[in-house]
Amino acid sequence: MLVLGIETSCDETGVALLDYQESGVSRIIQESLASQIEMHALYGGVVPELASREHMKALPVLVDTLCKDSGIGLKDLDALAVTVGPGLKGCLLIGATFTQGCSTALGKKLIPVNHIEAHLLAAELANPELKPPYLSLIVSGGHTELQLVQAGGKYLCLGRTRDDAAGEAFDKSAALLGLPYPGGPTLARLADTTKQSRYTLPVVARDMSDFSFSGLKTAVLLEIKKHRQELEESSEAKAEMAYAIQEAITESLLLKVKRALKEHSVETLSVVGGVAANMNLRAKLKDLLGDRVIFPPMKWCVDNGAMIAYAGARRILAPPSFEIRSRWGIELL
Ligand code: KG4
Ligand code: ZN
Repeated sequence: MLVLGIETSCDETGVALLDYQESGVSRIIQESLASQIEMHALYGGVVPELASREHMKALPVLVDTLCKDSGIGLKDLDALAVTVGPGLKGCLLIGATFTQGCSTALGKKLIPVNHIEAHLLAAELANPELKPPYLSLIVSGGHTELQLVQAGGKYLCLGRTRDDAAGEAFDKSAALLGLPYPGGPTLARLADTTKQSRYTLPVVARDMSDFSFSGLKTAVLLEIKKHRQELEESSEAKAEMAYAIQEAITESLLLKVKRALKEHSVETLSVVGGVAANMNLRAKLKDLLGDRVIFPPMKWCVDNGAMIAYAGARRILAPPSFEIRSRWGIELL
């Protein structure tokens, strides 16, 4: 089955063509991504109105090029899958109306996709041997969740963020440190240049299953204020502050994962979403779990069209209703 996946929920326009095999190995035939990083960097963060306009410009070009490069026309498709939530409403509307238009004109099946489920399923697309039950740590820009993945596309939420997500904690801390957008990867790169820190930050892991990173944000703000001069004058000090921030975030994720693995008798963990690209988090979880932890390749950790095509194909028999949802928990699917 040939499925086109379209992603426009935030600041990346992603498209991909998937050859879906229900009982065999599915394969991405072609994929591409238009990143808006350079434009949003001018403003220090994503400007939703501009993001929508960029998706509108990029999407038809990406789809056209994808078809030309792969030699597969829209008429050859079996279905079109598109993110309808969660995400920025204006951005979601661009992808959804474009895809709906194509599907109506071509008479092809339209599959609305939950962006968070798509992140989660990216691990199964990359590792076909990964089968439920397993635990999934979803760490994207706006979401931090631990889900117990059960057979039949059912999820049990074991904990989610009460305030800031891990990605936001990276991004907001990076902004406080004066690092350019996108803050997460920039802060991580700086942190990885050192192996120690003169600064200490609290590891937020109170005795609850939910995540919370807003306390850390306040602690980072106070610590930066306290050492402002040192941080301005010494690049080593700045790297050590980045190191302390990264440690506080990844240690807190690690503690929650350890607890959940103990409480639920599952062997395997998948880690998905943008923060799954973080090398420090990867190393810590590898140390803990060895081969029992699965990460999608870097290109499928961040937003992309491949995961949308795959998530759509998986739900083709019973898709959710076609409506835009800025919030949408996967346990409601
Ligand atoms: O999943 P994603 O691409 O978009 C959303 O669905 O939100 O995640 C983006 C998030 C951003 O907060 C970004 O700073 C973070 O992932 N991120 C990282 C790294 N790469 C991306 N955070 C820490 N270390 C990284 N290497
Ligand atoms: Zn995402």
